[in-house]
Amino acid sequence: MLPDLPAVGVRFLANPKLERSAPYGLGEQWILSHAYHRDVFAEISSWPDYAVTPLYDLVGLAAQARLGRLLYKDESQRFEVGNFKALGGAYGVLRWIQHEVERLTGVGGVTARDVLGGAHRDIAAGITVTCATDGNHGRAVAWGARMFGCRAVVYLPAAASHEREEAIAAFGAEIVRTHGSYDEAVRQAQADARRNEWFVVSDTSYEAYVNIPRDIMQGYTVMVREILDQLPDGVPPTHVFLQGGVGGFAAAVVGHLWEGMGAERPTAIVVEPERADCLFQSAAAGQRASITDVHGTALDALACGEVSRLAWFLLERGTDAFMTIPDDAALHAVELLRRNDPPISAGPSGAAGLAGMLCAAENETLRTALGLGGSSIVLVIGTERNPSGNARFPRQPLEE
Ligand SMILES: Cc1ncc(COP(=O)(O)O)c(C=O)c1O
Repeated sequence: MLPDLPAVGVRFLANPKLERSAPYGLGEQWILSHAYHRDVFAEISSWPDYAVTPLYDLVGLAAQARLGRLLYKDESQRFEVGNFKALGGAYGVLRWIQHEVERLTGVGGVTARDVLGGAHRDIAAGITVTCATDGNHGRAVAWGARMFGCRAVVYLPAAASHEREEAIAAFGAEIVRTHGSYDEAVRQAQADARRNEWFVVSDTSYEAYVNIPRDIMQGYTVMVREILDQLPDGVPPTHVFLQGGVGGFAAAVVGHLWEGMGAERPTAIVVEPERADCLFQSAAAGQRASITDVHGTALDALACGEVSRLAWFLLERGTDAFMTIPDDAALHAVELLRRNDPPISAGPSGAAGLAGMLCAAENETLRTALGLGGSSIVLVIGTERNPSGNARFPRQPLEE
């Protein structure tokens, strides 16, 4: 027996600043563009073991939720990393290598193929990349560093699980366990990098640090392009539910679709854990807002208190709605996926978009507000494989 979906903890906010018909302007294009996307796609799709991840048509769940169709992109199979962040974090590592090779030799546009073929190995070996992570980004950076022959130092918040730590260390990264939150780990990585002349590969952007997060978000758009190529009969979704941490993932999807489809793009709903809802709070406040207490959510990869500046630039006008979900809803979605035929591996953070969709589809007010119904084609993206292998209780929720 599955537990009933929880009725409490779900909050919903139609985006007061939505500008659905606004053109995808120069500011937006500076962050993400189809032109840059084509280069990034060519690069990442040339990496060893690159494969398009599956897009499942979840017929049973669509019927249960009284929807026309439910499409599920499964990033649990993304490279050996097992989450979508591989497309961003590892690309960020490559960007620093390109930068350093150009600075030291004058040779521009070095590719992964060049580096893996042995070119500029000495320069790559002299580079230390660093980042803070709730788990998945650090894994992606560690994997990229190993692939390209760099050193990686990864900062973890105090609350990160041992499974997350081991998964990062398995790719050869050195781990620094901090005493505070994810946002504090970001600041510590930044300060140590400055002192040690390391290269920060952050998936969140902040003042005077935008280029690498921009590259990382562009890396995520590889996944969006795959989805567009995989759509049954080429028919685009009407809705997309996107889980939010610092907002980079959601912004990459929204930005790519906004540029390609304009006002005809799918209705986008950002879904966050009820106790780590910095994007929701920003939308409610009408400007980027931070929250300080993000502890105690089983959706640990989404436990961020500060919004990425670049991501917010795209999400502020481009997202239709924001919602929060209780942890139980995500655990429920993890279980539904595990029972799917074939079984799908997802952690609660990775299943949060599906959970948000199920909460919205069950609630008549939200169904109406979002225009969800029998002709809707809903897209969700499972962004990570289950980090613990134990689908029911992926990690012990932290003490309050
Ligand atoms: C599994 C998973 N899904 C979604 C996200 C959200 O990405 P972002 O922090 O860019 O909003 C993360 C972030 O780490 C993640 O690990």
